[in-house]
Amino acid sequence: MAKQRTIYICQHCGCTQPRWLGKCPDCNEWNSFSEEMEATGATQKKSKNISQSKLVYLDDVTVEAGMHIQTGITELDRTLGGGYVSGSVILLGGDPGIGKSTIILQALAGLNQTDKTCLYISGEESASQIKLRASRMGYGDMHLAMIADNNIDSLLTHITELTPDVVVIDSIQTMHTDELASAPGTIGQVRESAFKLIEVAKRKQICMFIIGHVTKDGAIAGPKVLEHMVDAVLYFEGERNHSYRILRTIKNRFGSTNEIGVFEMTGKGLMEVSDPSGIFLSQRPKHANGSTVIATMEGSRPVLSEVQALVSSAGGGGMPRRTCIGIDHNRVALLIAILEKIHGIDLKGQDVFVNIAGGMRITEPAADLGILLAIYSSFINQHIDPNMVIMGEVGLSGEIRAIMSLDRRLSEAKKMGFESAIVPKASCKRKPDIDLTIYSFTELAQCVALIG
Ligand code: TYD
Ligand code: MG
Repeated sequence: MAKQRTIYICQHCGCTQPRWLGKCPDCNEWNSFSEEMEATGATQKKSKNISQSKLVYLDDVTVEAGMHIQTGITELDRTLGGGYVSGSVILLGGDPGIGKSTIILQALAGLNQTDKTCLYISGEESASQIKLRASRMGYGDMHLAMIADNNIDSLLTHITELTPDVVVIDSIQTMHTDELASAPGTIGQVRESAFKLIEVAKRKQICMFIIGHVTKDGAIAGPKVLEHMVDAVLYFEGERNHSYRILRTIKNRFGSTNEIGVFEMTGKGLMEVSDPSGIFLSQRPKHANGSTVIATMEGSRPVLSEVQALVSSAGGGGMPRRTCIGIDHNRVALLIAILEKIHGIDLKGQDVFVNIAGGMRITEPAADLGILLAIYSSFINQHIDPNMVIMGEVGLSGEIRAIMSLDRRLSEAKKMGFESAIVPKASCKRKPDIDLTIYSFTELAQCVALIG
């Protein structure tokens, strides 16, 4: 059979070239070419034969009860929506060295206790390196099928022969198919390899975990290109020099998104943190100016975290700095504008820094009021009651808007020993049934008056 030809296609405009080019001659885009298989007469004929699709009716489809299978690692199961589903493909992304291989090995150790068969495919480490790591974590004698290889075509033969319940690919950037000439890790290779793996997972009802490295600037041909192809996307976040790691669901066809799992990296692998609020508040300086505690919902779970703000006069005549860690800087710019307009203070000559302590990342608008008051507290050099938790969305005209799940947030605050809370009036139509002093407000001015 004649070897199939590959071509290079510009991902921006679709221009086709016989070889790789740095810049597309049609649309002038840089670095946009990726290698793909040419659709020859043979492949077209083949694809005609493949179309054996079957028509079914929704009410005829039967689904097994208890779809989710638990790995035994509660925090991982939670992010997956209660466990993995047979035949699903899960992409586990994160920076290199964050702990992806570690958590997967722990999940495999958990599954090893059940009757599930697992296959660990590593293109990065040899079998003895995996053994060393497993021994260090206390799983040295686990009975686990492993293959250290990166040729996707020979791996597929093994997967089809063994047909395990769970397969792990560590990592997709190291896998390659001989059909493409480009190096492993390029977009073409990553996509083609993943496509073949997903096909076998669906056909054989195998749950497949695909590990992918991402860098903050997306420099490596990333697993981002796979996000739409897989059933669930989990990202491992955290600073490498912090020991806490957060596993976040970005997409899940079989469960809710925005769930988080919290782990601590220790000498014996990743330990589950069942009480994240305790961790995020553990190093909080009490009576510090610019520090507030907010309550956000991470999926179904309330989490308390500390907001730190620092307002200091900007040197020179340039633009004042607005630096934000763990929160969108546009949101902070908006809150600063509201504070200036509604409360009449001038922050134009001030640098403003906002940080969510402990490596947490906040996206929920319910954090608005806490952030705003932290900035105000730093500006007036006065601390806010350290036993108070603050929640509420702030509207553009300074109104405090309702938030969901107020009771859950308040009971988490009570559990963590807080004594009072500022909440939106619109969220407490009835008095919350909890032993906390509640200040419910409709306007930002009322909150500022309480703390200032
Ligand atoms: P790893 O899972 O290999 O990262 P990834 O697969 O995401 O690239 O984790 C590597 C880091 O974790 C490494 O810097 C060492 C650290 N580590 C521990 O601190 N304790 C442990 O028990 C293990 C296995 C790793
Ligand atoms: Mg790894």
